[in-house]
Amino acid sequence: MYSVEDCKIIDLPVIHSEQGKISVLQNHETIPFDIKRVYYLYDVPMNSERGGHGHYELEQYVIAASGSFTFILDDGHSKKEVFLNHPNKALHIKPGIWREMKDFSSGSVCLVLASMEYTEEDYMRDYNDFKKYRNA
Ligand code: TYD
Repeated sequence: MYSVEDCKIIDLPVIHSEQGKISVLQNHETIPFDIKRVYYLYDVPMNSERGGHGHYELEQYVIAASGSFTFILDDGHSKKEVFLNHPNKALHIKPGIWREMKDFSSGSVCLVLASMEYTEEDYMRDYNDFKKYRNA
């Protein structure tokens, strides 16, 4: 089982030019899993809190494509807050970690690269069930 300390911030490669910057992610090069799904959160109202779930198998790279927000990670024993505010950083969320999100800045875009297609069966949505899973 992974701990919150296993959920690292990754510096993404940046291609600079006077016209702007590009960051690229490629399966098995800059990202350690096959991307099966991409989604993004946007138009998140100020003060709204999202997340509040864990995944059994899914791993994710989370990028603040625009603006900023905070992830609260929880492995059942320890918690860690991660503030994301730049598109050249990704947060790698390993499987089995509870997460909540807060403090979305106005206009922020939370880009998520996911290792699996969507299935509700991979979600743990009840915190007590999550704790039981972690302590089993
Ligand atoms: P959820 O993952 O719970 O959102 P968050 O963690 O950002 O608060 O998803 C919210 C809703 O969207 C939920 O009803 C499931 C649905 N959903 C999909 O149908 N497909 C997807 O790929 C995702 C991420 C969510």
